[in-house]
Amino acid sequence: MTTAPPDSPETTPSTEAAAKPFMRTIKSFVKRAGRTTAGQAKAFEELGPQFLLPYRKGAIDLLAVYADSTGTAGQKGTPKPVVLEIGFGMGEATAKIAATLPDTNFLCCEVHEPGVGALLKRIGENHLTNIRICNHDAVEVIDHMLPLQSLDGVHIFFPDPWHKTKHNKRRLIQSPLIAKLAARLKVGGYLHCATDWEPYAQQILEVLTAEPLLKNRALATHPELMGYAPKPHYRPLTKFENRGIRLGHGVWDLVFERV
Ligand SMILES: C[S@@+](CC[C@H](N)C(=O)[O-])C[C@H]1O[C@@H](n2cnc3c(N)ncnc32)[C@H](O)[C@@H]1O
Repeated sequence: MTTAPPDSPETTPSTEAAAKPFMRTIKSFVKRAGRTTAGQAKAFEELGPQFLLPYRKGAIDLLAVYADSTGTAGQKGTPKPVVLEIGFGMGEATAKIAATLPDTNFLCCEVHEPGVGALLKRIGENHLTNIRICNHDAVEVIDHMLPLQSLDGVHIFFPDPWHKTKHNKRRLIQSPLIAKLAARLKVGGYLHCATDWEPYAQQILEVLTAEPLLKNRALATHPELMGYAPKPHYRPLTKFENRGIRLGHGVWDLVFERV
């Protein structure tokens, strides 16, 4: 799924003895090469202005982000819940979930430009109004744009597994990021992860269990699954997952709640 990049140093020694070392943040992705198709480019041009949310270094008002189309639900004007998705790939699951849950707004982050074009295309084809896309590193979006207790849910489906031990440090799901996400969830909100790589599933279970602001929903409802959850109804089986199932591979869902 992902080609492993050469290891990059975490710090670069300064030439000035007393200078602080320059910290280079380890990224959870490498920008993959990939051609944007003519259809995706057209979607960028026609739908980008309405559905792309530019990255900025300042908190955003999530209600205002969706105000022009679907910021409120029903006659009482109750704000719709907002779910953040990190790393939607080509957007197959994202578009299906947005269609299944029309009364939820989705803020979807992806660094892979052809993927962003592909999701814009699906938005157009399926007449979806409840998605906004930020074509930027989700870690920076969380740090700079999302207020505390502003999210009702977070989806992280099949994050890059970074199989090799020396690349495990690139994995997205690690304690510092989960603490930031937990702080941005409203009380009662949820964090849903899924992976097909068992060692990563075990790591995710450990990291989420160790976060004091999160509680594992499945422990009460499905204790026999040892911390994992049954696949929630809204998460569709993608082509990729169906192929894995045919090959006998496992998939692990994890659903935790903000306390
Ligand atoms: C293995 S793919 C899974 C895609 C999709 N969720 C699926 O289930 O098919 C992981 C995706 O996460 C994206 N990604 C990784 N780190 C990211 C980050 N920090 N911010 C935004 N996207 C990221 C990658 O570009 C890649 O498209």
